Amino acid sequence: MAQYDVIIIGGGPGGYNAAIRAGQLGLKVACVDKGIDGGGVLGGTCLNVGCMPSKALLHASEMYDAAANHFAELGIEVTPKLNLAQMMAQKQVSVGQLTKGIEFLFKKNKVDWVKGAGRIAGAGKVEVTGADGAITALEAKNIVIATGSLPAGLPGVEVDQKRIVDSTGALSLTEVPKSLLVIGAGIIGLELGSVWRRLGAQVTVVEFLDRITPGMDAEVAKTFQRSLTKQGMVFKLSSKVTGAKASKTGVSLSVEPVAGGAAETLEADYVLLAIGRKPYTEGLGLETVGITPDKRGFIPTDHWKTSAPGVWAIGDVTLGPMLAHKAEDEAVACIETIAGKAGHVAYGLIPSVVYTTPEVAWVGKTEEELKAEGRAYKAGKFPFTANSRARINHETEGFVKILADATTDEILGAHLIGPHVSEMIGEYCVAMEFRAASEDVARTCHPHPTRSEALRQAAMGVEGWTMQA
Ligand code: FAD
Ligand code: NAI
Repeated sequence: MAQYDVIIIGGGPGGYNAAIRAGQLGLKVACVDKGIDGGGVLGGTCLNVGCMPSKALLHASEMYDAAANHFAELGIEVTPKLNLAQMMAQKQVSVGQLTKGIEFLFKKNKVDWVKGAGRIAGAGKVEVTGADGAITALEAKNIVIATGSLPAGLPGVEVDQKRIVDSTGALSLTEVPKSLLVIGAGIIGLELGSVWRRLGAQVTVVEFLDRITPGMDAEVAKTFQRSLTKQGMVFKLSSKVTGAKASKTGVSLSVEPVAGGAAETLEADYVLLAIGRKPYTEGLGLETVGITPDKRGFIPTDHWKTSAPGVWAIGDVTLGPMLAHKAEDEAVACIETIAGKAGHVAYGLIPSVVYTTPEVAWVGKTEEELKAEGRAYKAGKFPFTANSRARINHETEGFVKILADATTDEILGAHLIGPHVSEMIGEYCVAMEFRAASEDVARTCHPHPTRSEALRQAAMGVEGWTMQA
């Protein structure tokens, strides 16, 4: 029977990064993965049906939208023609290259990739059922659970991946819907809603709460909603979906105001259900080592250790933001702890990004959180209308807001909405990891003309000396 120092169950960003780090540290490691939908490819949700295909479609649809609606302003006159099949094909090519890249990294770091469904079969034991039904028994000193998550369901709304789709179905539609109803104004709903709106769909988003994107700073969320509305997205907030009926050609959605009142029926070609994700532990054999998931199905952990000795859990299957980089950070910290090093994750500094137009990116505390904590803070703000690079590129929507402690000036939160801010938030992640003051950023030379100057100008604003607005 094969013996390992570590067996990792799951080959997504949590699992594959854990496997690579274990290999780097000289541990004998296997990664068991059954592939999304039994597909036999590494990369998990993120590479196959999550981050990467969604970003591929967001990029391509943004280019299409720019060609259709913004090029003329720059003096470029074109009438773009959509080739949806090619747009989908180029997405799959990139995804294929990325999943192959992980296979290469596994070989490079001597990780054994065991294809099949893993099941814990008691302390230190894992059984893997291959596609042909054959069972392989493995043993390890440590087992790391990195089995990820699945889309959450909604009673009365049955996902058939034909007319009523989840994120996986919405990444592979074969036609542009004339109309798309999105349930949930969270990150998936707004990113994939944006893709299909840019390609020509009339998109209506039905959200239970009275705001979009819970967790985002409220001022930013308001600006974001205004911007998406201007682009043509329609929002029905404070509304709950009570049922959906699909036919061959469309869907009827029953919607009621949360506060009570008259119900209505909305009709559309397609419905996208995007109300969150749930941890995935089915058939994992948790009971064989005495692990009990919490009420919502997450595996409870303390520094990535579960209640069972030698069994660890990381990524979407544990509590915390369901993000690929959170899973990756936990992977490194968990494996380094197993290897006898000091593992650490700065949970307060995990950035979030929404890859729409404008993009939204943030790290640290929102104004609402600081107010609730009773922490005295100062805010500095800078609009992209006053940033020269944004102005010459005709991308002036949005702003940067920096929140810092009123006494020590330590940066507590950075909230960005605007052009390419996904690539700019990292500056504040580093600054905050080093516990920088807003003055440190304000006095750091930034290249001109770049959008990053807005980060500096907003930091200057904390002490009231923003110079360019
Ligand atoms: P997963 O990526 O879910 O991987 C788990 C793997 O384990 C899967 O391959 C699964 O098949 C396998 N598995 C499960 N059970 C078993 C078993 N018993 N035996 C063997 N294998 C098993 N996050 C971001 O940070 N940025 C983004 O832009 C982003 N975009 C997203 C877009 C969409 C549409 C979606 C759905 C998600 C997105 N996410 C994004 C979230 C991100 O995909 C997840 O947070 C991330 O994939 C979690 O990694 P993980 O390793 O915990 O789990
Ligand atoms: P989400 O948690 O971001 O948003 C779900 C939304 O649905 C919320 O606004 C919630 O209030 C609403 N909702 C819940 N129940 C509802 C109901 N019955 N009716 C109407 N609205 C309802 O979840 P989402 O968008 O499904 O994404 C899942 C996860 O995937 C997120 O946690 C996110 O971390 C990750 N993700 C990250 C991305 C990124 O980093 N750019 C992109 C896509 C997904």
